[in-house]
Amino acid sequence: MLESPTTEAGATSASAQASEEVLVLDFGGQYSQLIARRIRECGVFSELLPATTSVEKIGERKPKALVLSGGPASVYEPDAPSFPTDLLDLGIPLLGICYGMQAMVKELGGKVEGAESGEFGRAELTLRNGGGRLLGGLPEEQTCWMSHRDAVFEPPDGFEALAATPGSPVAACEAPERGLYGIQFHPEVVHTPYGTEVLTRFLREIAGCEEQWSAESVIAEQVAAIRAQVGEGRVICGLSGGVDSSVAALLVHRAIGDQLTCVFVDHGLMRLNEAEQVVAAFEQFGIPLVHVEAEQRFLDKLAGVDEPERKRKIIGGEFIRVFEEEAAKLEDASYLVQGTLYSDVIESGGSDAADTIKSHHNVGGLPEDLEFELVEPLRMLFKDEVRAVGAELGLPERMVWRQPFPGPGLGIRIVGGEVNKERLDILRAADAILQEEIRAAELYRRLWQSFCVLPVVRSVGVQGDGRTYAYPIVIRAVTSDDAMTADWARLPYDLLERVSNRIINEIEDVNRVALDISSKPPATIEWE
Ligand code: XMP
Repeated sequence: MLESPTTEAGATSASAQASEEVLVLDFGGQYSQLIARRIRECGVFSELLPATTSVEKIGERKPKALVLSGGPASVYEPDAPSFPTDLLDLGIPLLGICYGMQAMVKELGGKVEGAESGEFGRAELTLRNGGGRLLGGLPEEQTCWMSHRDAVFEPPDGFEALAATPGSPVAACEAPERGLYGIQFHPEVVHTPYGTEVLTRFLREIAGCEEQWSAESVIAEQVAAIRAQVGEGRVICGLSGGVDSSVAALLVHRAIGDQLTCVFVDHGLMRLNEAEQVVAAFEQFGIPLVHVEAEQRFLDKLAGVDEPERKRKIIGGEFIRVFEEEAAKLEDASYLVQGTLYSDVIESGGSDAADTIKSHHNVGGLPEDLEFELVEPLRMLFKDEVRAVGAELGLPERMVWRQPFPGPGLGIRIVGGEVNKERLDILRAADAILQEEIRAAELYRRLWQSFCVLPVVRSVGVQGDGRTYAYPIVIRAVTSDDAMTADWARLPYDLLERVSNRIINEIEDVNRVALDISSKPPATIEWE
């Protein structure tokens, strides 16, 4: 995958599919992806499909169970998505969560109404009728996480109410002989302590799913799928140093060995020693690697350029040219590996909408006339699964857990002035100190990103008996789930003190360290 310059990727390839699967029908709830992830964590393959998917199509997949997600609508809104009653004909166990339960209950004749006030956040759940098949044996009183306005007041005929909260007279119900189950609360979020147990019970005991989905099973399936797709063909993979492209390359190499050649375009904008680490890791695996040391080429093009978007365009454009030159040398390569993830696929309309994947998800922004067939072994995986597969394949811990790093690299962290070798070296040295201290404080994995920024302004300082006129370094560390929103990380003062002292003492051209305490929005994570 060319996680570079501006974009990321997509198109169809053999998809990994365990023999047993559970489909989550997405009514647009904010936790829908999380439901699929949690089901996979229970060892069962799960995929998200739009709630509008035809029942015929769902039936063809022969899922072991169906889960109906939550959603933002009220069942009484005119255009609210309705419960597809044909689903009942499939005879597959079904669990409705939040809106999913309300839609089912309403359709089958139960009573759903707007409650006086909604229930958002933690709620005390009390079991009724012993908790039934779904909740029986769990504590009579427990905490759960709610996010709803309407509530179920009476279950449909033939259903039994299983629990209540102050705002939900029927917070769970079931008709076991029909295979129908509903819960108002969210078992997928960590704030529902027994959530995993409820899901596991539904999957194992009710739907009879077995634990089959694991890093090992993904590797075995993908190796087979890659071999089937590629045959004797030659394959090329652009490495960025990120976990996705590295794991994709390792998987493909496991499948087809030396038919794969990796190309690592080193644009000179990586962190300290990172290029060497990538090269060493791939050499250790014996994967054929073309390491293109193109720093000077990129620096020549960036000379005199201040404007952020121009920097990005230059880096992106040059990256493509270098990659194309190398690809042209591998004349007989007809396949290109890309590290597209399941979250990219979902954002782009799901696995059936491969053609419509947004251009900004096209890794590396490679031009269409490259005419490669894409190999996308991570297409069905969430990020945490990619890391698990990477660890299983022996990828070094440092690469498995690498924080996201933008394609244009340090090129967009030198702000308000030209990117040149001198400034890159200053920024790299400062960034290396920050990384080292954050790792030593065991905070690296808890932060979404942590890095330094070099604003091109000089200010006065005093060191020894003399005045200095040097650059500031800004520390940026954020927590986030998906980079869409982010909060500034509350780094401990003693850590900040150590980092500041070290940066100023060890780097001659820096006399000030500042901390960025802005969230996103309104700020962005990167400065440019
Ligand atoms: P912002 O700065 O928009 O960043 O809050 C959101 C996420 O995107 C990354 N980022 C980039 N990644 N090319 C990339 O490949 C880029 O030009 C780019 N700009 C921002 C950023 O690191 C964060 O993870």
